[in-house]
Amino acid sequence: MSTVPQPPRRHGGTPAMQRVSPRDLTARKGGEPIVCITAYTAPMAGFMDPHVDLLLVGDTLGMVIYGMNTTLGVTLEMSIAHGQAVMRGSQKACVIVDMPFGSYQASPVDAFKSCARVMAETGCAGIKLEGGVEMARTIEYLVQRGIPVMAHVGLKPQSVNVVGGFRVQGRGKEEAKAVLADAKAVENAGAFSIVVEGTVESLARKITEVVKVPTVGIGASPACDGQIIVAEDILGLYSAFTPKFVKRYAELGVAVSNAVENYASDVRARRYPAREHLYGAVEPAKKKKAPSRSRAKVRT
Ligand code: KIV
Repeated sequence: MSTVPQPPRRHGGTPAMQRVSPRDLTARKGGEPIVCITAYTAPMAGFMDPHVDLLLVGDTLGMVIYGMNTTLGVTLEMSIAHGQAVMRGSQKACVIVDMPFGSYQASPVDAFKSCARVMAETGCAGIKLEGGVEMARTIEYLVQRGIPVMAHVGLKPQSVNVVGGFRVQGRGKEEAKAVLADAKAVENAGAFSIVVEGTVESLARKITEVVKVPTVGIGASPACDGQIIVAEDILGLYSAFTPKFVKRYAELGVAVSNAVENYASDVRARRYPAREHLYGAVEPAKKKKAPSRSRAKVRT
């Protein structure tokens, strides 16, 4: 029917593919760039899995899937449900689940309870959380208890109400110093990798030079050890806001709109469903042949 490649599926008896692990990614520091992208559903995870190293079940799902204005309304239950879907749809990539706002900030113990639930209920390889110096103790607590942590510094969308919007970080000297200190703190705490979001290029370059774990940039710099992006942004499936750093690789929103417009006009004109879409379609009645005698008669 369709020529679109289908997401790979697991079949009974087929041995599961070895996934990329957080340790594998840490070992990639300074090597071939690490390719990361967000995924929230099983089919999308399946399409993207063969091409990337890491799938992040980002809390951006609140905005791009649920239509929220910020990521703050995402719950642990939502992250777990989407984490499970992405794990089901993928085989190879390292799957990391983003911890939602309010699920880890209060204390290391609270963070451990939330993260352990996410790890146990989704089977993901690790979690991501936002924060620098202020979260270092929590990161250390989690890592020491078996939870691989991807840290996230620079622009931290969960702090949007404190910093006054989605603002590029590190333009001033003091701010740049603070973000660098954040990156060093989370590295020392044991993070296996650090997302650097929305920072000026010189700062992302500096952070990448000084930390020993890979940096993964978004709106940061090609100097980072890898890149991450929100899939819906590059596929043309989210247009409420398009940041400067987004490159559009497809216009799937337009393709969906066109396809549904065609479907609607086919339904209205009764062109769809056609005969080939019917179960047990009745053959059209064959025209009866006129008896040869009468034909002969007509001819005469
Ligand atoms: O939630 C998310 O999608 C993220 C990425 C933008 C890094 O944190």
